[in-house]
Amino acid sequence: MIIAIDGPEASGKGTVAKLIAQKYGFLHLDSGLLYRLTGVNLIGQIFQDNAAFVKAAIAAAHQITTDNLDNPPAQARSMQGGIMASKVAVIPEVRNLITVLQQKFAAQQGSAVVDGRDIGTVVFPNADLKFWVIASLESRASRRFADYQAKGKADTLAQVTAAIEARDHRDSTRAASPMKKAQDAHLIDTTKLSIDGVVEAMSAYIDAKLA
Ligand code: C5P
Repeated sequence: MIIAIDGPEASGKGTVAKLIAQKYGFLHLDSGLLYRLTGVNLIGQIFQDNAAFVKAAIAAAHQITTDNLDNPPAQARSMQGGIMASKVAVIPEVRNLITVLQQKFAAQQGSAVVDGRDIGTVVFPNADLKFWVIASLESRASRRFADYQAKGKADTLAQVTAAIEARDHRDSTRAASPMKKAQDAHLIDTTKLSIDGVVEAMSAYIDAKLA
């Protein structure tokens, strides 16, 4: 069984994807981490032009595997890691490589909860269940701001909000598999829900499917 959970940054999809996977004994694959690990390889490098950036991003994507995703470098989870991830994610060849990795992972494991931006639309268009998880910009920004503060980061709420807006724009306007709701995805707005509330709402759909 494949459960696809898509949605924008800090909508809560990653947290609930992990909890749903634990609850039902499925594996969890955070597809964003694959893009982050690709992007992190390019941080600090200087590129002559966009063609050089694209070439390096494709080479980096070739090195990524779904093994050892448990201990990513701290930079992968940083704001800069997210920005670089969304820059490499516009490159069709990078997307193709990472899409194949995800499909192989699921084929080996059988059942998986996969979260990202294009899981229900492109990676697993025939997923058994699809969720589209959203939340207001204000609540997403304050959640992300709290995460960064807990990690001792100095980014202000205004900077975090601007970074989320920029990433939403890049993710939803790119030509290659833009972030969007699959037509058959169940919409869950987490703005006013606790994490437990989101897990409960999703479980109702999953239990009905499993019954
Ligand atoms: O989910 P996360 O914030 O870790 O994703 C980082 C970036 O990776 C996203 O902003 C997006 O550009 C890219 N991504 C994607 N497709 C996915 C998952 C992530 O394009 N399935």
